[in-house]
Amino acid sequence: MDKAAVVQKVLKEHSKKPQNEQGTFFASSNIALCKYWGKRNTELNLPITASLSISLGTFGAETSVSLIKDNKKPMDDIIVNGQKITIDSDKTFVLNLINYLNLFRPTPTTYFRVETEVNLPIGAGLASSACGYAALIGAINDLYDWQLPLSTLSLLARLGSGSASRSFWQGFVEWQIGTAEDGMDSVGVSMPQIWPELRIGLLILNSAPKPLSSRKAMETTKLTSPFYREWPKKHAHDLTRLKQAINQYDFIELGEASESNALAMHAMMLTAYPPILYTEAKTITVMHEIWRARQAGLPLYFTQDAGPNLKLLFLEKDIENIRRRFPALIIIAPFKKGVLK
Ligand code: PMV
Repeated sequence: MDKAAVVQKVLKEHSKKPQNEQGTFFASSNIALCKYWGKRNTELNLPITASLSISLGTFGAETSVSLIKDNKKPMDDIIVNGQKITIDSDKTFVLNLINYLNLFRPTPTTYFRVETEVNLPIGAGLASSACGYAALIGAINDLYDWQLPLSTLSLLARLGSGSASRSFWQGFVEWQIGTAEDGMDSVGVSMPQIWPELRIGLLILNSAPKPLSSRKAMETTKLTSPFYREWPKKHAHDLTRLKQAINQYDFIELGEASESNALAMHAMMLTAYPPILYTEAKTITVMHEIWRARQAGLPLYFTQDAGPNLKLLFLEKDIENIRRRFPALIIIAPFKKGVLK
């Protein structure tokens, strides 16, 4: 089954007739504490393992979508943070986006104007594709007034970027593997736990777009790393630990399981062919600083995605100490006032 067939199945009773001039939607970004790395179906972005993330509250993408009335220019208009993006400026990004938009056109020759404001560095492993595809399908849903439930939006966002399936809720979200061949049950599920003291720190060490997409990197890892076959076992263990830590609000356990999961993912990439190394010298320096701080008694952990930047995990009580060590840190309180949206 291909993407178009899945979309057709999901939208069989919904028309592609715009009900609003423009659709808009905001989606928070999310950071995986237990990572998604490897697909069992590359067309539908169906994962080999489940994954579990924390949402980034006000950090994310606000997207509006409308149809271009004047059809003299047979192409979509894509504007990111006020800048027009063309095939010449970013080929892979634009082609992926156009292929995704093809699934939702009222006619094959109707084009979209997509305008997005993202308040995170784009393409640097800070989950901008997650919030980007989630906000996009949310805006399309609003344009056509489909009123789809969040779990269906999650399924449709996954077709654009796997991690986008987790961007429709605040707090902890598990993207379940599912068993259906067409992926109908491979969607995000929000967890009820509220942890107001938890803090995420974004440490941007290099905001340049990553040289290798996560899409390519995870496929190379799956196909060539001799350790990939161990990944599902290691991952299941980390996920169990992490869920238990969240249930018991056990920060040390949460930090240990998250950091270990990220390090295992990056270690595996290093054994792929050709080898993949997102880590830079600055990343390693900070890792050592974190481990030294921990040895000195500070409960501080990190996780790392497909880029050199680190995301720090800590508790509210240690903010001043951590700010002193990392003055450039962007600190996020994912459970603002303890309320889930
Ligand atoms: O959804 P993608 O294709 O951008 O892949 C995301 C991969 C990681 O960020 C490294 C892990 C994750 O679960 O978000």
